[in-house]
Amino acid sequence: MKFFIDTADLAEIKTAYSWGCVAGVTTNPSLYAKTGGKLADFEAHMVKIAEACPDVPVSAESTATTTEEMVAEGLRLAALAPNIVVKLPICAESLAATKELKKHGVNVNMTLIFTVPQALMACSAGARYVSPFVGRFDDIAEDGIEQLANIVTAVKNYYAPEHTEIIAASLRTPNHVTQAALLGADIATVPFAAMEKCLHHPLTDRGLAAFEADWKKVTSAQ
Ligand code: E4P
Repeated sequence: MKFFIDTADLAEIKTAYSWGCVAGVTTNPSLYAKTGGKLADFEAHMVKIAEACPDVPVSAESTATTTEEMVAEGLRLAALAPNIVVKLPICAESLAATKELKKHGVNVNMTLIFTVPQALMACSAGARYVSPFVGRFDDIAEDGIEQLANIVTAVKNYYAPEHTEIIAASLRTPNHVTQAALLGADIATVPFAAMEKCLHHPLTDRGLAAFEADWKKVTSAQ
């Protein structure tokens, strides 16, 4: 399973990318709003992200509402940098836009996926990625991991990763990441704070402290 970083914060993206294990970036309008970014700076900000990690896909989300506007905005976003993927929320208009953008060689990440039919419709329209959400199910006392399991099984029954990869999204905890991997999601997109948590385990931290203390004994005995 690949790790994507789920943030629009450039400093977080640069730090996570420097770790060497980040294979992509996902953003959305809420994550951009969180950075305090202005509308006029949105495309320049996406370029900065794309240039900060030039060898991995960066999802930039369209906020258009008609197919024509989504195609036009998608073409504009994709032209900003070769690694930009256009993110579209699932609806009739975005399915049509996905088919059209694919004809132009533009990759689409279809987001806000909560059900098996939504995921299969996105694949069928030619989405390069589908993003089923986990945490938002948990937020309403439903089982997000169980829903992800259904989507992984259904998509993998019909589509190879070369056609459509599954990005487990709306992940909040290291356990979400573990479950996504065990289910066979191709990618987990993880917020920076959860990514940092994934690095640690109390036994790792204790082991590191012990190595350091023991090595001091070795060096002080010289
Ligand atoms: C990523 O593609 C999604 O937009 C993101 O994971 C949503 O996460 P949230 O449910 O924590 O907002």
